[in-house]
Amino acid sequence: MAVLVTGGAGYIGSHMVLDLLEAGEEVVVVDNLSTGFRRAVPQEAAFVEGDVGDGALIARLMADYGVDAVIHFAGSIVVPDSVADPLGYYLNNTVNSRTLIAEAVRARVPHFIFSSTAAVYGIAREMPVGEDAPLQPISPYGTSKLMTEWMLRDTAIAHPLSYVALRYFNVAGADPKGRTGQSTPRATHLIKVACEAALGKRPGLEIYGRDYDTSDGTCIRDYIHVSDLIRAHGDALRHLRAGGDSAVLNCGYGHGASVLEVLDAVERAAGCTLDKRDAPRRPGDAPELIAGADRIREVLGWTPIHDDLDGIVSSALAWERKL
Ligand code: UFG
Repeated sequence: MAVLVTGGAGYIGSHMVLDLLEAGEEVVVVDNLSTGFRRAVPQEAAFVEGDVGDGALIARLMADYGVDAVIHFAGSIVVPDSVADPLGYYLNNTVNSRTLIAEAVRARVPHFIFSSTAAVYGIAREMPVGEDAPLQPISPYGTSKLMTEWMLRDTAIAHPLSYVALRYFNVAGADPKGRTGQSTPRATHLIKVACEAALGKRPGLEIYGRDYDTSDGTCIRDYIHVSDLIRAHGDALRHLRAGGDSAVLNCGYGHGASVLEVLDAVERAAGCTLDKRDAPRRPGDAPELIAGADRIREVLGWTPIHDDLDGIVSSALAWERKL
Protein backbone atom coordinates (compact mmCIF):
# COMPACT_ATOMS: atom_id res chain seq x y z
CA MET A 1 0.00 0.00 0.00
CA ALA A 2 1.46 3.35 -0.98
CA VAL A 3 0.55 7.01 -1.04
CA LEU A 4 0.87 8.77 -4.40
CA VAL A 5 2.04 12.35 -3.89
CA THR A 6 1.71 14.57 -6.96
CA GLY A 7 3.94 17.62 -6.89
CA GLY A 8 6.08 15.95 -4.24
CA ALA A 9 9.21 17.77 -5.45
CA GLY A 10 7.63 21.16 -4.76
CA TYR A 11 7.53 23.39 -1.70
CA ILE A 12 4.57 21.92 0.15
CA GLY A 13 4.73 18.45 -1.42
CA SER A 14 8.31 17.89 -0.30
CA HIS A 15 7.28 18.54 3.32
CA MET A 16 4.48 16.01 2.89
CA VAL A 17 6.84 13.34 1.59
CA LEU A 18 9.13 13.74 4.61
CA ASP A 19 6.18 13.50 6.96
CA LEU A 20 4.78 10.38 5.30
CA LEU A 21 8.16 8.66 5.33
CA GLU A 22 8.56 9.47 9.02
CA ALA A 23 5.17 7.85 9.60
CA GLY A 24 6.42 4.68 7.90
CA GLU A 25 4.36 5.06 4.72
CA GLU A 26 5.48 3.88 1.31
CA VAL A 27 5.55 6.95 -0.93
CA VAL A 28 5.61 7.41 -4.68
CA VAL A 29 6.10 10.90 -6.05
CA VAL A 30 5.09 12.07 -9.49
CA ASP A 31 6.33 15.51 -10.46
CA ASN A 32 7.12 17.08 -13.82
CA LEU A 33 9.82 19.27 -12.21
CA SER A 34 8.33 22.40 -13.81
CA THR A 35 8.74 24.21 -10.48
CA GLY A 36 9.95 21.44 -8.18
CA PHE A 37 13.40 19.98 -7.63
CA ARG A 38 14.49 16.36 -7.83
CA ARG A 39 16.81 16.91 -4.86
CA ALA A 40 13.81 17.86 -2.69
CA VAL A 41 12.58 14.23 -2.78
CA PRO A 42 14.36 11.90 -0.34
CA GLN A 43 15.86 8.68 -1.67
CA GLU A 44 13.44 6.64 0.47
CA ALA A 45 10.54 7.75 -1.76
CA ALA A 46 10.04 6.41 -5.27
CA PHE A 47 10.29 9.25 -7.76
CA VAL A 48 8.85 9.39 -11.26
CA GLU A 49 9.33 12.41 -13.46
CA GLY A 50 6.07 12.82 -15.28
CA ASP A 51 2.82 14.61 -15.60
CA VAL A 52 -0.41 14.21 -13.71
CA GLY A 53 -2.16 14.59 -17.06
CA ASP A 54 -0.47 11.43 -18.36
CA GLY A 55 -3.25 8.95 -17.60
CA ALA A 56 -1.27 5.87 -18.71
CA LEU A 57 1.59 6.77 -16.37
CA ILE A 58 -0.74 7.41 -13.45
CA ALA A 59 -2.57 4.12 -14.08
CA ARG A 60 0.72 2.23 -14.09
CA LEU A 61 1.89 3.84 -10.84
CA MET A 62 -1.40 3.12 -9.11
CA ALA A 63 -1.25 -0.53 -10.11
CA ASP A 64 2.48 -1.08 -9.54
CA TYR A 65 2.57 0.47 -6.08
CA GLY A 66 -0.88 -0.52 -4.84
CA VAL A 67 -1.81 3.09 -4.16
CA ASP A 68 -4.56 3.53 -1.55
CA ALA A 69 -4.45 7.32 -1.35
CA VAL A 70 -3.57 10.21 -3.61
CA ILE A 71 -2.38 13.51 -2.17
CA HIS A 72 -2.60 15.97 -5.04
CA PHE A 73 -0.36 19.04 -4.76
CA ALA A 74 0.74 19.42 -8.37
CA GLY A 75 -0.60 22.59 -9.91
CA SER A 76 0.08 26.15 -10.96
CA ILE A 77 -0.31 28.72 -8.19
CA VAL A 78 0.54 32.24 -9.35
CA VAL A 79 -2.67 34.26 -9.40
CA PRO A 80 -1.58 36.97 -11.92
CA ASP A 81 -0.20 34.30 -14.26
CA SER A 82 -3.61 32.66 -14.24
CA VAL A 83 -5.18 35.92 -15.36
CA ALA A 84 -2.72 36.14 -18.24
CA ASP A 85 -2.99 32.45 -19.19
CA PRO A 86 -6.39 31.14 -18.07
CA LEU A 87 -6.44 28.18 -20.45
CA GLY A 88 -3.01 27.09 -19.28
CA TYR A 89 -4.31 27.14 -15.71
CA TYR A 90 -7.49 25.27 -16.59
CA LEU A 91 -5.38 22.65 -18.36
CA ASN A 92 -2.80 22.16 -15.65
CA ASN A 93 -5.08 22.52 -12.63
CA THR A 94 -8.47 21.35 -13.83
CA VAL A 95 -8.09 19.07 -16.85
CA ASN A 96 -5.07 17.26 -15.43
CA SER A 97 -6.83 16.85 -12.08
CA ARG A 98 -9.74 15.29 -13.95
CA THR A 99 -7.35 12.73 -15.47
CA LEU A 100 -5.89 11.96 -12.04
CA ILE A 101 -9.33 11.56 -10.45
CA ALA A 102 -10.51 9.37 -13.36
CA GLU A 103 -7.50 7.08 -12.96
CA ALA A 104 -8.11 6.91 -9.19
CA VAL A 105 -11.68 5.79 -9.88
CA ARG A 106 -10.55 3.27 -12.49
CA ALA A 107 -7.89 1.82 -10.16
CA ARG A 108 -10.34 1.84 -7.21
CA VAL A 109 -8.08 4.07 -5.13
CA PRO A 110 -10.34 4.79 -2.18
CA HIS A 111 -8.96 8.11 -0.85
CA PHE A 112 -8.00 11.46 -2.30
CA ILE A 113 -6.66 14.59 -0.62
CA PHE A 114 -6.65 17.79 -2.63
CA SER A 115 -4.80 21.09 -2.24
CA SER A 116 -7.46 23.73 -2.68
CA THR A 117 -7.20 27.40 -1.84
CA ALA A 118 -8.84 30.30 -0.07
CA ALA A 119 -8.92 31.89 -3.52
CA VAL A 120 -12.19 30.00 -4.09
CA TYR A 121 -13.92 32.64 -1.91
CA GLY A 122 -12.79 35.66 -3.93
CA ILE A 123 -13.46 38.87 -2.00
CA ALA A 124 -15.38 37.39 0.92
CA ARG A 125 -18.09 39.51 2.48
CA GLU A 126 -17.61 38.18 6.01
CA MET A 127 -14.41 37.63 7.90
CA PRO A 128 -13.35 35.10 9.12
CA VAL A 129 -14.62 33.28 6.05
CA GLY A 130 -16.28 29.94 6.71
CA GLU A 131 -16.53 27.01 4.33
CA ASP A 132 -20.19 27.76 3.60
CA ALA A 133 -19.51 31.31 2.40
CA PRO A 134 -20.32 32.11 -1.23
CA LEU A 135 -17.76 30.76 -3.69
CA GLN A 136 -16.91 33.59 -6.05
CA PRO A 137 -13.31 33.27 -7.19
CA ILE A 138 -11.95 36.36 -8.90
CA SER A 139 -9.08 34.66 -10.74
CA PRO A 140 -8.82 31.71 -13.12
CA TYR A 141 -6.53 30.19 -10.47
CA GLY A 142 -9.33 30.16 -7.91
CA THR A 143 -11.85 28.91 -10.46
CA SER A 144 -9.52 26.15 -11.65
CA LYS A 145 -9.23 24.85 -8.08
CA LEU A 146 -12.95 25.22 -7.38
CA MET A 147 -13.81 23.15 -10.44
CA THR A 148 -11.59 20.38 -9.10
CA GLU A 149 -13.38 20.52 -5.76
CA TRP A 150 -16.65 20.10 -7.63
CA MET A 151 -15.33 17.18 -9.68
CA LEU A 152 -14.33 15.47 -6.43
CA ARG A 153 -17.71 16.19 -4.83
CA ASP A 154 -19.62 14.67 -7.73
CA THR A 155 -17.21 11.76 -8.18
CA ALA A 156 -17.47 10.83 -4.50
CA ILE A 157 -21.24 10.52 -4.93
CA ALA A 158 -20.99 8.34 -8.02
CA HIS A 159 -18.01 6.16 -7.07
CA PRO A 160 -16.41 4.59 -3.97
CA LEU A 161 -13.97 7.46 -3.41
CA SER A 162 -13.79 9.63 -0.31
CA TYR A 163 -11.87 12.88 -0.31
CA VAL A 164 -10.76 15.84 1.74
CA ALA A 165 -10.19 19.18 0.02
CA LEU A 166 -8.14 21.56 2.13
CA ARG A 167 -8.53 25.24 1.34
CA TYR A 168 -5.13 26.67 2.14
CA PHE A 169 -4.71 30.18 3.42
CA ASN A 170 -1.22 31.75 3.26
CA VAL A 171 1.28 28.94 3.60
CA ALA A 172 4.77 29.98 4.70
CA GLY A 173 7.81 28.85 6.65
CA ALA A 174 9.94 25.75 6.28
CA ASP A 175 10.66 22.40 7.85
CA PRO A 176 11.85 23.09 11.43
CA LYS A 177 14.60 20.48 10.94
CA GLY A 178 15.85 22.42 7.90
CA ARG A 179 15.45 19.53 5.44
CA THR A 180 13.28 21.37 2.91
CA GLY A 181 11.66 24.73 2.29
CA GLN A 182 10.49 27.06 -0.45
CA SER A 183 13.01 27.12 -3.29
CA THR A 184 10.76 28.52 -6.03
CA PRO A 185 12.62 31.00 -8.22
CA ARG A 186 10.89 34.34 -8.82
CA ALA A 187 8.56 33.68 -5.88
CA THR A 188 5.97 36.36 -5.22
CA HIS A 189 4.85 35.38 -1.73
CA LEU A 190 5.41 38.04 0.89
CA ILE A 191 7.42 36.09 3.48
CA LYS A 192 9.64 34.49 0.83
CA VAL A 193 10.22 37.84 -0.89
CA ALA A 194 10.98 39.58 2.41
CA CYS A 195 13.45 36.85 3.45
CA GLU A 196 15.23 37.16 0.11
CA ALA A 197 15.42 40.93 0.61
CA ALA A 198 16.70 40.52 4.18
CA LEU A 199 19.56 38.36 2.90
CA GLY A 200 20.47 40.73 0.06
CA LYS A 201 19.17 38.41 -2.67
CA ARG A 202 17.00 41.23 -3.96
CA PRO A 203 17.39 44.96 -3.38
CA GLY A 204 14.21 45.42 -1.37
CA LEU A 205 10.51 44.95 -1.72
CA GLU A 206 7.32 46.82 -2.39
CA ILE A 207 4.32 47.17 -0.13
CA TYR A 208 1.30 46.81 -2.37
CA GLY A 209 -1.12 49.33 -0.92
CA ARG A 210 -1.21 51.19 2.38
CA ASP A 211 -4.71 52.59 1.98
CA TYR A 212 -6.78 49.51 2.81
CA ASP A 213 -9.46 49.72 5.46
CA THR A 214 -7.41 47.70 7.96
CA SER A 215 -5.67 48.54 11.25
CA ASP A 216 -2.47 49.84 9.60
CA GLY A 217 -3.70 50.24 6.01
CA THR A 218 -1.98 47.10 4.65
CA CYS A 219 -3.59 43.77 3.76
CA ILE A 220 -4.14 41.13 6.41
CA ARG A 221 -3.60 37.41 5.77
CA ASP A 222 -3.81 34.21 7.80
CA TYR A 223 -0.22 32.92 7.57
CA ILE A 224 0.03 29.22 8.39
CA HIS A 225 3.23 27.28 8.99
CA VAL A 226 3.77 24.66 6.30
CA SER A 227 4.38 21.98 8.96
CA ASP A 228 0.93 22.58 10.47
CA LEU A 229 -0.58 22.42 7.00
CA ILE A 230 1.14 19.06 6.48
CA ARG A 231 -0.20 17.79 9.81
CA ALA A 232 -3.68 18.56 8.49
CA HIS A 233 -3.01 16.28 5.51
CA GLY A 234 -1.83 13.51 7.83
CA ASP A 235 -4.99 13.98 9.89
CA ALA A 236 -7.08 13.91 6.71
CA LEU A 237 -5.45 10.67 5.60
CA ARG A 238 -6.16 9.00 8.96
CA HIS A 239 -9.72 10.34 8.85
CA LEU A 240 -10.41 8.89 5.40
CA ARG A 241 -8.74 5.56 6.12
CA ALA A 242 -10.86 5.26 9.27
CA GLY A 243 -13.97 5.58 7.11
CA GLY A 244 -14.57 9.28 7.73
CA ASP A 245 -16.83 11.27 5.43
CA SER A 246 -15.57 13.44 2.63
CA ALA A 247 -15.04 17.04 3.68
CA VAL A 248 -14.02 20.46 2.42
CA LEU A 249 -12.10 22.32 5.10
CA ASN A 250 -10.35 25.63 5.53
CA CYS A 251 -6.77 25.31 6.64
CA GLY A 252 -5.66 28.41 8.50
CA TYR A 253 -5.29 29.57 12.10
CA GLY A 254 -8.27 31.90 12.27
CA HIS A 255 -6.30 35.10 12.82
CA GLY A 256 -4.02 37.19 10.70
CA ALA A 257 -1.14 39.58 10.36
CA SER A 258 -0.77 42.69 8.23
CA VAL A 259 1.95 43.18 5.63
CA LEU A 260 3.71 45.60 8.00
CA GLU A 261 3.52 43.12 10.88
CA VAL A 262 5.08 40.46 8.68
CA LEU A 263 7.87 42.79 7.60
CA ASP A 264 8.52 43.75 11.25
CA ALA A 265 8.83 40.05 12.09
CA VAL A 266 11.32 39.53 9.23
CA GLU A 267 13.38 42.52 10.37
CA ARG A 268 13.40 41.16 13.94
CA ALA A 269 14.44 37.69 12.82
CA ALA A 270 17.12 38.91 10.41
CA GLY A 271 18.31 41.81 12.55
CA CYS A 272 18.16 44.22 9.62
CA THR A 273 16.06 47.02 8.20
CA LEU A 274 14.40 46.14 4.92
CA ASP A 275 14.37 48.53 2.01
CA LYS A 276 10.59 48.96 1.66
CA ARG A 277 8.88 51.06 -0.97
CA ASP A 278 5.23 51.97 -1.14
CA ALA A 279 3.55 50.76 -4.32
CA PRO A 280 -0.01 50.80 -5.68
CA ARG A 281 -2.44 48.09 -4.71
CA ARG A 282 -1.90 44.78 -6.48
CA PRO A 283 -4.95 43.89 -8.61
CA GLY A 284 -7.09 41.17 -7.07
CA ASP A 285 -5.81 41.55 -3.50
CA ALA A 286 -8.55 41.28 -0.87
CA PRO A 287 -8.05 43.63 2.11
CA GLU A 288 -8.36 40.79 4.59
CA LEU A 289 -8.44 37.01 4.37
CA ILE A 290 -8.81 35.04 7.58
CA ALA A 291 -9.90 31.41 7.85
CA GLY A 292 -12.95 30.37 9.75
CA ALA A 293 -10.93 27.62 11.37
CA ASP A 294 -13.30 25.64 13.59
CA ARG A 295 -14.47 22.93 11.23
CA ILE A 296 -11.07 21.39 10.54
CA ARG A 297 -10.47 21.04 14.28
CA GLU A 298 -13.85 19.39 14.76
CA VAL A 299 -13.72 17.06 11.77
CA LEU A 300 -10.04 16.09 11.74
CA GLY A 301 -9.02 16.88 15.32
CA TRP A 302 -6.31 19.10 13.80
CA THR A 303 -4.14 20.74 16.47
CA PRO A 304 -1.63 23.21 15.09
CA ILE A 305 1.64 23.59 16.98
CA HIS A 306 3.46 26.32 15.03
CA ASP A 307 0.93 29.15 15.31
CA ASP A 308 3.51 31.91 15.80
CA LEU A 309 4.49 34.48 13.17
CA ASP A 310 8.04 34.89 14.51
CA GLY A 311 8.56 31.12 14.33
CA ILE A 312 7.18 30.95 10.78
CA VAL A 313 9.45 33.77 9.65
CA SER A 314 12.53 32.35 11.43
CA SER A 315 12.11 28.98 9.76
CA ALA A 316 11.67 30.62 6.34
CA LEU A 317 14.77 32.73 6.93
CA ALA A 318 16.81 29.73 8.07
CA TRP A 319 15.91 27.91 4.85
CA GLU A 320 16.64 30.98 2.73
CA ARG A 321 20.13 31.13 4.26
CA LYS A 322 20.79 27.56 3.11
CA LEU A 323 19.79 28.17 -0.50
N1 UFG B 1 2.68 41.68 -0.74
C1 UFG B 1 3.42 42.86 -0.76
N2 UFG B 1 4.64 42.83 -1.36
C2 UFG B 1 5.16 41.73 -1.94
C3 UFG B 1 4.41 40.52 -1.92
C4 UFG B 1 3.17 40.54 -1.32
O1 UFG B 1 2.98 43.89 -0.25
O2 UFG B 1 6.29 41.79 -2.48
C5 UFG B 1 1.38 41.67 -0.08
C6 UFG B 1 0.23 41.32 -1.01
O3 UFG B 1 -0.23 42.47 -1.67
C7 UFG B 1 -0.76 40.74 -0.04
C8 UFG B 1 0.09 40.06 1.01
O4 UFG B 1 1.39 40.64 0.87
O5 UFG B 1 -1.48 41.75 0.58
C9 UFG B 1 0.23 38.57 0.82
O6 UFG B 1 0.57 38.33 -0.54
P1 UFG B 1 1.10 36.91 -1.06
O7 UFG B 1 1.46 37.09 -2.50
O8 UFG B 1 2.14 36.41 -0.14
O9 UFG B 1 -0.15 35.96 -0.91
P2 UFG B 1 -1.66 36.13 -1.43
O10 UFG B 1 -2.48 36.46 -0.24
O11 UFG B 1 -1.78 37.02 -2.58
O12 UFG B 1 -1.91 34.69 -2.03
C10 UFG B 1 -2.16 33.58 -1.24
C11 UFG B 1 -1.69 32.33 -1.96
C12 UFG B 1 -2.49 32.11 -3.19
C13 UFG B 1 -3.96 32.10 -2.83
C14 UFG B 1 -4.33 33.35 -2.10
C15 UFG B 1 -5.74 33.30 -1.65
O13 UFG B 1 -0.34 32.43 -2.26
O14 UFG B 1 -2.12 30.88 -3.77
O15 UFG B 1 -3.52 33.51 -0.97
O16 UFG B 1 -6.29 34.56 -1.74
F1 UFG B 1 -4.71 32.02 -3.94
